[in-house]
Amino acid sequence: MSKKIVLLPGDGIGVEVVREAEKIISFISEQYGVEITTETHLVGGASLDAHDIPVKDEVIEACKKADAVLLGAVGGPKWDDYPPEKRPEKALLRLRKELGLYNNLRPVMVFSSLKDASPLRPEVVDGVDLLVVRELTGGLYFGQPKGISEENGEEVGVDTMRYTVSEIERITIAAFEAAQKRRKKVTSVDKANILASSQLWRKTVNRIAKEYPDVELEHMLVDNCAMQLLRNPGQFDVILTENMFGDILSDEAAMLTGSIGMLPSASLGDGTGMYEPVHGSAPDIAGKDIANPLATLASVALMFRYSLNHEKAATAIESAISKVLNAGFNCKDMSRHARQVLSTSEMGDKILATMKASS
Ligand code: IPM
Ligand code: MG
Repeated sequence: MSKKIVLLPGDGIGVEVVREAEKIISFISEQYGVEITTETHLVGGASLDAHDIPVKDEVIEACKKADAVLLGAVGGPKWDDYPPEKRPEKALLRLRKELGLYNNLRPVMVFSSLKDASPLRPEVVDGVDLLVVRELTGGLYFGQPKGISEENGEEVGVDTMRYTVSEIERITIAAFEAAQKRRKKVTSVDKANILASSQLWRKTVNRIAKEYPDVELEHMLVDNCAMQLLRNPGQFDVILTENMFGDILSDEAAMLTGSIGMLPSASLGDGTGMYEPVHGSAPDIAGKDIANPLATLASVALMFRYSLNHEKAATAIESAISKVLNAGFNCKDMSRHARQVLSTSEMGDKILATMKASS
């Protein structure tokens, strides 16, 4: 059975890291006899330049029809002054919304060989293995009213943090199901001492939790969570949280690994899943062949696991990544902790060679 993957390289280093992903995808296709077709489309700034719109309807349609979508990154200084409707990031938000991708999984794992790479002391981060489950289609990103208007002769900017019970329920279920396959602990993060949406969040999470007696639940305020991630990150298994808190906490959690260039993500919903590195388009290093492709390659592993139902391929990619890291190779972002620093394309080739050698 043939599988279709839509590739959306986007902008900046997105283009470079997705190129490495293509090497791995075509190897897996040959190696495991999975028939895979790929199709590449423009999104973000690249689409703005070509079509004056962050993402075309036909690209969204192509994604809906595909078995999985792999996205690089969007955005860059060139488009920073564009009006809100024409910002590259709009492409990402439209894709998330229209594909119904409410469940964003961001696993954070500190590889033993890289525990010195974190800005925190090695004994604090050693063994960290947590999963941020971020709600992705609600909250401040999408709530109405939203916008800048004029009131009493001055401009007012408004965003709305809004959650319905059903939105909270489905992401809570996703978090508890994920926890059942892990260390069976959910930390639900909110700001229930202040926000109404958080009070509803907490009440709903408590109700759903009763259906998962094997999973331990704790609640944590978001400011405390930001602190605990630095103080004792090993206490976390699954962190369940709303869209904006998840955005911020996942960048913080990424640094436990030493570089945001290592963090993959999966965005799941009722239809096609989308996979992307957590990092952005990094305009400052774009085009130099120095970006770390590992977050994207790890995202490809998640894609094989969750959307293409090919656990063997997923594990093969992940174990190649560990082997290459443990052997002392890394990219420039981790150069202080690598015995040998590889370029973007060399890293892709190294992972590929490692997969070939162990197949
Ligand atoms: C992320 C990014 C996006 C977000 C931006 C690029 C819109 O920061 O995926 O974490 O805020 O969700
Ligand atoms: Mg972010």
